[in-house]
Amino acid sequence: MKKSILAVATLCVLGTSVAMAKNQMATDTTPAEDLKIYRAYFMKKFPGVPLQEFANGVNAVSEVNRENWEAIEEFPPYEPMIDEGEVIWNTPFKNGKTFASCFNNNPAQRKNYPYWDKSKKAVVTLEQAVNACLTKNGEKPMKYKKGKITRLLAYMGYQSRGQKTNVVVPNDPDALKAYYDGKTFFFARRGQLNFSCAQCHVESAGQRVRSNVLSPALGHTTGWPVYRSKWGDLGTLHRRFGGCNKQVRAKPFKAQGKEYRNLEYFLTHMSNGIEYNGPSTRQ
Ligand code: HEC
Repeated sequence: MKKSILAVATLCVLGTSVAMAKNQMATDTTPAEDLKIYRAYFMKKFPGVPLQEFANGVNAVSEVNRENWEAIEEFPPYEPMIDEGEVIWNTPFKNGKTFASCFNNNPAQRKNYPYWDKSKKAVVTLEQAVNACLTKNGEKPMKYKKGKITRLLAYMGYQSRGQKTNVVVPNDPDALKAYYDGKTFFFARRGQLNFSCAQCHVESAGQRVRSNVLSPALGHTTGWPVYRSKWGDLGTLHRRFGGCNKQVRAKPFKAQGKEYRNLEYFLTHMSNGIEYNGPSTRQ
């Protein structure tokens, strides 16, 4: 691992973008300005890759990965899991109601999350809304990283395919703070290896680290839940955040805790305009 990190460090020095470097942790650019800067950065770094392609992660920028991925997507391993999710969606709670009662009778909810909840003064994610529905109806909440919730999210994600990411950051100091906290998290170095998300997924996007090519952060939030061969199963976005924190030997934060929700808010906003295409497969 150490060796590969050194390789990334070298690449980072070569690939640092002035605009992005200046922008780090800055609260003097608005979310709308950030969106412009990030998108322009990635479009310039990967000329010829259309915006929507970034929804496919590393497969947008690596031909070898793409070939394998296309072969897997012909008979996607998540297909039966979408069906399992549909069963969960339709199975009545003990009180006779179903998830439909919490979501306007519509499983295609992806585009509505994450959002800033004014009364809670917090970012609310789809995972939280699922568990809020369960607790409201006297049911046990689901675990946030793997298992049952990924089935339900796979079904809801599949029903939401084609919806455009459209995270709104209202002009409200608390919402802006959550956004900037997420942004700061993204650019903060952490772990024994002292690496930030941005160093791998912005500055070194498209570069190889050991057997992996690093995906661009643009589009990072569109394809969830993801079936990873490494997991042999579906996992949530926050499971992946935890894994990436562990890679740099940092202690992962709690799935659906404030840190990762704010990070999701920032990162999803960065993908505004890109269509949701989950569930998907990755290495
Ligand atoms: C040392 C480099 C490194 C750092 C630092 C890092 N990651 Fe990753 N990340 C990877 C690798 C390698 C993968 C798997 C290949 C890929 O998709 O990029 C990955 C995958 C991901 C994915 C999945 C992308 C997809 O399309 O499935 C997300 C999301 C992600 N990282 C987010 C983050 C976030 C957020 C942080 C900061 C908390 C972070 N990463 C820090 C190396 C890193």
